[in-house]
Amino acid sequence: KEIATVVEAACAGCGTCAAECPTDAIHMRHFEDDQLIAQVDAILADSDHDKVVAFACNWCSYAGGDTAGTGRLQYPTSIKIIRVPCTGKVDLLHILRAFEKGADGVYVVGCLEGDCHFNNGNFRARKRVEQAQNILNTIGIEGERAQMYNLSSSEGPRFAEYAREMDEKIRNLGPNPIKQAKQKAA
Ligand code: FES
Repeated sequence: KEIATVVEAACAGCGTCAAECPTDAIHMRHFEDDQLIAQVDAILADSDHDKVVAFACNWCSYAGGDTAGTGRLQYPTSIKIIRVPCTGKVDLLHILRAFEKGADGVYVVGCLEGDCHFNNGNFRARKRVEQAQNILNTIGIEGERAQMYNLSSSEGPRFAEYAREMDEKIRNLGPNPIKQAKQKAA
């Protein structure tokens, strides 16, 4: 019955607590749920074209994207990246929101297993992606539209390879059925 308090000095800054808290009692400055959701919504405001949302860890895959860019490696324009402090910050809510808003696919790219700067954020993210897959399958949408990948910041080619893999997967599956239903109803 005590009131929980946050010891700010002990905060590592991954955001995993904010994503895990079942009562939404804690938030992360600069990566509030509202801010991430606003990014998802802005990306999907126009969903006429294929869109795949990639939640990328600041320390590995986001930097891997930079490495791909500086190496002039190409990846599909359908891939829209949202930077997170660690994949532990990616909430099931963010993944499902993207599908609700018309994303054809969503993937989370974290550090290599064992290399998460906050120990286990990427393992938690993988569990949430699996939860999202189960929910999608239950409501009749292909669960494979949600994926989890791991890479290091030096792996620009692998970043581009995963982006192409997701783009191809989505092309094979076709558009998100939620988006199609909304377009028919409009
Ligand atoms: Fe990269 Fe946790 S710091 S996944």
